[in-house]
Amino acid sequence: MADLRNNFVGIKSPNPFWLASAPPTDKAYNVERAFKAGWGGVVWKTLGEEGPPVVNVNGPRYGAIWGADRRLLGLNNIELITDRDLYTNLREMKQVKMNWPDRALIASIMVPCEENAWKAILPLVEETGADGIELNFGCPHGMSERGMGAAVGQVPEYIEMVVRWCKQYTRMPVITKLTPNITDVRKPARAAKSGGTDAVSLINTINSITSVNLDTFSPEPSIDGKGSHGGYCGPAVKPIALNMVAEIARDPETYGLPISGIGGITTWRDAAEFLVLGAGNVQVCTAAMTYGFKIVQEMITGLSNWMDTKGHRTLDDICGRAVPNVSDWQYLNLNYIAKARIDQDACIQCGRCHIACEDTSHQAITQYVDGKRHFEVMEDECVGCNLCVNVCPVQDCITMVGLEPGTLDERTGKVVDANYANWTTHPNNPMARQAAE
Ligand SMILES: Cc1cc2nc3c(=O)[nH]c(=O)nc-3n(C[C@H](O)[C@H](O)[C@H](O)COP(=O)(O)O)c2cc1C
Ligand code: SF4
Ligand code: SF4
Repeated sequence: MADLRNNFVGIKSPNPFWLASAPPTDKAYNVERAFKAGWGGVVWKTLGEEGPPVVNVNGPRYGAIWGADRRLLGLNNIELITDRDLYTNLREMKQVKMNWPDRALIASIMVPCEENAWKAILPLVEETGADGIELNFGCPHGMSERGMGAAVGQVPEYIEMVVRWCKQYTRMPVITKLTPNITDVRKPARAAKSGGTDAVSLINTINSITSVNLDTFSPEPSIDGKGSHGGYCGPAVKPIALNMVAEIARDPETYGLPISGIGGITTWRDAAEFLVLGAGNVQVCTAAMTYGFKIVQEMITGLSNWMDTKGHRTLDDICGRAVPNVSDWQYLNLNYIAKARIDQDACIQCGRCHIACEDTSHQAITQYVDGKRHFEVMEDECVGCNLCVNVCPVQDCITMVGLEPGTLDERTGKVVDANYANWTTHPNNPMARQAAE
């Protein structure tokens, strides 16, 4: 059986599945039940500074996007950090850590961007026995208007400065949680590294308005007729998060910096994808909010079964395995040629592939053959774009088949070249032409 034990910047947990800082981790009652269900660790709901806690809206705080089967695909929220007293949280954290010494307990923190504010809270957190801290530089609403959260995460110099303070005033490992509301995520990651962070975690939520009420003309969720942007998360954000994790994992300046992967993780497979793209562990929020704490059991069993099937013994065997295969477009092999093939036995003749290819691709799929409805790929027209694969409602009905080197590509009339060749040396590339002259 695969060994799922995780050691993330020295923080040990029985598996790599942590609950992200959010409502599932906002009190001992929740965290205790999460640990009973099997979660390896939690990042406690973000703590604020001492004094009167923040105040949340007293109305709807979520917006959502659903698939056709009403499955939740994206969740938008306008919730702030914890609205409970700091000392109540600290007391509960200490008790939970005592009750569950083998699980990871991380304190998420967001206080004003002032040295004294960080200096004051760190010893209080350290006293709970927490295994580490996560700096919340991601919250995109409410707190950012007060100069915290994403307002810090969008300025690399601030990130570096606060990380430095934290490394100076605590012995606990520091995980810097990044905002995706930025053009190039490598810059805040590099800044966190320069400040001495032990790891980065990403992504926090994405600025979003999920819908507008067309009767009241108010964005949802609507509070007395007005709405504000919130933070988007859930399955819909996974592709954005995966790319950002990969960008940091393959950046020479941050290469090797531990990453806790977050964003849309719902199944063991999602988690595995983050791990192979360079994450050392993963955090989950929306899936737990949608399906409950026990969802971790499918994640543990699924990951373990997959690792057993593939002969991977430990997480180290898989972490980062896909990173060398993430490339820039210009280095993709232009001599690789693939064609779509339709499995006629699986085809239900819905015609979607024909419409998609006919109207937006290369007019390469028949609709009628000899007067009969029949969907077949014309290889002399197919450019191998795989749009048809993605619109076909029957899984694996259309597959992409790579042409063997030496065979004829009927579309171009050229023989498939076995050699790798990319855009940097292509004769149509003006830069390559200039270099050759
Ligand atoms: C209602 C809600 C509240 C959240 N509150 C926090 C928070 O206090 N601190 C924080 O760092 N992230 C917070 N997040 C962001 C999550 O920790 C996580 O980064 C994000 O939801 C992406 O993960 P997911 O797609 O698994 O939900 C919150 C998310 C939601 C949905
Ligand atoms: S791969 Fe693209 S071009 Fe080829 S049949 Fe499918 S949609 Fe058409
Ligand atoms: S989309 Fe798929 S099922 Fe529908 S006609 Fe095309 S190949 Fe057949």
